[in-house]
This record gives sequence, C-alpha cells and structure tokens, in this order.
Amino acid sequence: MSDYILETRDLTKHYGGVQALTGANFKLKHGEHVAIMGDNGAGKSTFVRQITGVEQRTRGEIIFDGKAVHFSGPLDAREAGIEAVFQTLALADDLDVPDNLFLGREKTFLDWLGPFRLLDYKGMRQATLDGLEKTAVKIPNINNRIRNMSGGQRQCVAIARTATFHSKLTIMDEPTAALGVQETAQVENIIRTLKEAGEPLILISHNMRQVFDLVDRVIVFRRGRICADLDIKNEKVTGEDVVAYITGAKTQEQFGELT
Ligand SMILES: Nc1ncnc2c1ncn2[C@@H]1O[C@H](COP(=O)(O)OP(=O)(O)OP(=O)(O)O)[C@@H](O)[C@H]1O
Ligand SMILES: [Mg+2]
Repeated sequence: MSDYILETRDLTKHYGGVQALTGANFKLKHGEHVAIMGDNGAGKSTFVRQITGVEQRTRGEIIFDGKAVHFSGPLDAREAGIEAVFQTLALADDLDVPDNLFLGREKTFLDWLGPFRLLDYKGMRQATLDGLEKTAVKIPNINNRIRNMSGGQRQCVAIARTATFHSKLTIMDEPTAALGVQETAQVENIIRTLKEAGEPLILISHNMRQVFDLVDRVIVFRRGRICADLDIKNEKVTGEDVVAYITGAKTQEQFGELT
C-alpha cells in the first residue's frame, strides 16, 4: 500500500487565459490533516474542484488510494470515497435534508428486488437526525427543502454528511466561514473526531487559530501555485510566518522564486 491516500502531480487548471492553478505537486498521508491557506483567488477551491471532478483539469495527474483517477463529477468522487463540502454548496435545492444526505447512497430494503427495491425512509431519517445532532445546528424541519434554508443551515447539512459516512478522504472548503460560534465549535469537533478515527482531511480555511488548533501541516497557495509546505506540529512555525508566505513576503526555496 502506498503511504499516501492522495497525490497530485503537476495539477493544472487554466480558465481561458486565467491560470487559476499551475503545477500543483501535493501529497497527503493516510490519517493526515492538512490545511490549505492563501489569499482570495489563490487557487484553493480550483485545486479541490479538480480533485473532486467538479471540473476537468487542464493537465496533471491525480492518484487517489493508489490509483490514477479521472472523476467525471462529485458523485463519482463520492462513490470512490471522497466526501467533500464545497464552498459554493453542492446540495440539491429541491430535495429535503435526508434526501441530500443520502444522495447517491440511499439505504434500501429487499435489494434482491433490483430496481424495485424499497427505500428505507425511516432509517435515513434517523441517520439524518443523528448526523445533524453532531453539528449542533437547529433545523426546524428536516423535511424542508434545502432551498428554504439559511446559508449556515445548508453548510451544516453538508457537514453532517461527512460526519455520517465514513470516507477515505474528507475535503472541506471553508466549512465554518458562514457559521455561528456554536456551530463552528461543533464542526471543529467533527474534524477532531475524524482525526481520532484516522480519516484524512484537507481543510481550506482563512482562520489561523482554527488551522493551528486542528491540523498537522499547512500548504500555502499563492497566485495558483503552492509556495510553502509547513510542518506546524513539529517545526517552529508561527502565524506570522504563515502570513508572510500568504502575502509573498517569504517563499520556501524548494518552490522557487515567485513573481
Ligand atoms: N469558472 C471560472 N472561470 C474563470 N476564472 C475562474 C473560474 N473559477 C475561478 N476562477 C479564477 O481562478 C482564480 C482562483 O480562484 P479560486 O476560486 O480557486 O480561489 P480561492 O483560492 O478558492 O479563493 P477564495 O479564498 O476567495 O475562495 C481566481 O483568479 C478566479 O477568479
Ligand atoms: Mg475558494
């Protein structure tokens, strides 16, 4: 087995003339929690969209769980074991909460009936309530359509999904940016639970306190390129150091001079 659950080689995405992501070489070990930081527009979400098949990359390789992969979309990535919470949410507006949680992995009865097998609504409802409880968000009625929920409530539904299913890799793109204090604390607890369970995580965050509390390593993106790889658990790296990489005041030699 490879030491790494995920590896990208020369991962690149250009939108016409916009070089949103260039030559990203990244490795994530089994069980490791990594944060991606960088200014607005640095290419963080673009990186995640290529990995999860939301978009098709311009070039480069993605090796997930030992295999080169080409996901055709986020459901395809989810089937392979990547649970992602996107910055702009990928929930189905016209479905209610349980249907969103179980989208693509519905609980069923009598599977031998093939296409006529029965959906286990009661089981899905209970699992939904259990998952939501972990996020502390109060959703008045889980049978409401996502369309009628606040931004924070939607975000919690998406996070409840990652807390409900075991996945091989969880990716969260600014999961707490729209959340209140209590909900943020709960989401941070979910992240700690994933760590204890040995499940790897990529967390995109602008919140320095959160990053230093939660992860082992910080990758900094700047102008579409990785410019620093910082082992914050074992090396003396301060918040100011990270800011210096984010703003370009400092660059790690291995990533070359930046323009
Ligand atoms: N669909 C698109 N078409 C054209 N340009 C895009 C598209 N999506 C992103 N970009 C550009 O690519 C660059 C990287 O965007 P991206 O969303 O990855 O940034 P980010 O690091 O996630 O920023 P933020 O912290 O604001 O979320 C930006 O310059 C953005 O304008
Ligand atoms: Mg983003």
